[in-house]
Amino acid sequence: MDNIDNSSGSKGLTDGFGRSFPYLRLSITDVCNFRCDYCLPNGYQGCKKADFLSIDEIKRLVNVFAELGTNKIRITGGEPTVRKDFTKIAQLISSHSSISTTAFTTNGYRLAQNAKIWRNAGIDNINISIDSLNKERFFQITGHDRLSEILKGIDAAINVGFEKVKINVVLLKGVNDGEVNDYLSWAKSSPISIRFIELMQTGDNQQYFQKYHTSAITISDELIKTGWTLRKRNFNAGPAQEYIHKDYQGSVGIISPYSKDFCKSCNRLRITSNGDLRLCLFGSQGVSLRHLLQSDEQKHLLIKLISSQLAFKCSSHFLALGDTGITPNLASIGG
Ligand code: 5AD
Ligand code: SF4
Repeated sequence: MDNIDNSSGSKGLTDGFGRSFPYLRLSITDVCNFRCDYCLPNGYQGCKKADFLSIDEIKRLVNVFAELGTNKIRITGGEPTVRKDFTKIAQLISSHSSISTTAFTTNGYRLAQNAKIWRNAGIDNINISIDSLNKERFFQITGHDRLSEILKGIDAAINVGFEKVKINVVLLKGVNDGEVNDYLSWAKSSPISIRFIELMQTGDNQQYFQKYHTSAITISDELIKTGWTLRKRNFNAGPAQEYIHKDYQGSVGIISPYSKDFCKSCNRLRITSNGDLRLCLFGSQGVSLRHLLQSDEQKHLLIKLISSQLAFKCSSHFLALGDTGITPNLASIGG
């Protein structure tokens, strides 16, 4: 079948640029209970009657992607944990024999209470967004005065033994870019990975982006100067350049979507919460898979549709040209 690589004996989706896709980001809702300035400044505005993928649909999707070589799935949103069946979904993904890594991204809401339950559901890795370590600034960015409670959640996540605990920090010029050293101090004595993410332009945040975008390059330069070294990238790793230091328990990742070769190592596909396949975070189209998620008998048609779509994956996004594709904000597709 088109775009399925069987050359190494292992099945896997590939595109026209030699990239393969073992990593799936699955959004299960675009609802979020936070209102981060750069993402949902006015809070979630979606329709009241949301119609997100059901457990059965998710199960069929996971089975087919596993068959197509996916071995890592990240559950995202919106805020994925707002779904009442979040734990069940995590369980069904992590218990699939072909999925070796189950991860999720969360704003940390109610993490302290649930860390153990979610770890027991088989989740390996967790990413938590914390855009400031300053209580007032955290409130200003997210609309929630919950920093201390989320920090407790992170301690709980470390204690219950998640394999990787990553902290996402979206760099905002003049807002939190003076806090880099505070995050590094945290990583000195904690087994966490701090990921500095450059702000990305989306359909909804154009003016905000002009005002607050700042490059992460100065952080990389500073890390190198102070004894950090770049770690070799795993084939199913995320997009970060990962730095380590002998005096630090934690590590630092830099995610610079505007850097020249960012898309060369793309290894992921995305599914929106209503079942569209997205080949790129900033692509210009999505293809609905939902009509083929209604019964197990549709499996072969689904495989055919997914694999035929890979031919349309572009070599890179066109963010540098200001083209944000059809993504109004990252909550609509999962970061
Ligand atoms: N640019 C960069 N990162 C973003 N996120 C959400 N919107 C943006 C954006 N426009 C981040 C969130 C979260 C992750 C899923 O993506 O802060 O950490
Ligand atoms: Fe919610 Fe994440 Fe968007 Fe913040 S960045 S509003 S936590 S989806």
